[in-house]
Amino acid sequence: EAPTARIEEIIAEHRHLEGPMLPIFHALQEEFDHVPEAALAPIADALNLTRAEVHGVMSFYHDFRKAPPGRHVVKICRAEACQSMGSEALAARALEKAGLDWHATSPDGRVTVEPVYCLGLCACAPAAMVGDKLHARLNEARLDKILAEARS
Ligand code: FES
Repeated sequence: EAPTARIEEIIAEHRHLEGPMLPIFHALQEEFDHVPEAALAPIADALNLTRAEVHGVMSFYHDFRKAPPGRHVVKICRAEACQSMGSEALAARALEKAGLDWHATSPDGRVTVEPVYCLGLCACAPAAMVGDKLHARLNEARLDKILAEARS
C-alpha cells in the first residue's frame, strides 16, 4: 500500500508545472512501480479535475501500471517494424501458451507482460526487453524461452 503522505508530496512537487498530470504519473510510477489507485482522487483535487478525467488520461497511456508488476517485466514490442515482422502473432501465440495476457502478471507474481512501442531495434525486429536486457530477432522458440526464463 503506497503511503498517502508520499503521494501528496509527489503531487505537490509537480502540480505547478505546466501540464502536470503526466509528470505526476511518471514520478508516482518511478516511486511505487505503478500509479496507486489512491493517488487518483488527490491528483483530481490538486489539478481541479474530476476523478474520471484523471482516470481517463491514465488509461490512455499504456506506460502507467495500475498495479505493481511481477518480479520480471517482459516488454514485447508492438510498434510498426516489429509488427511487420509478425510480432503480433508471435506474441499472441506465446502469451496463450504461457497463459498470460498483455499487462497481466502471472499468478505466482514472477512475470508481467507489457507492450512497448519501439525499442530502437527495428532493424532486428521483432524485439523484446526483459528488465534492461534487449532481445532481438525473436522467433517462437526464443520468445517461449524468454518467458520461461522470466518465470523460473
Ligand atoms: Fe519494434 Fe522498433 S518497432 S523495435
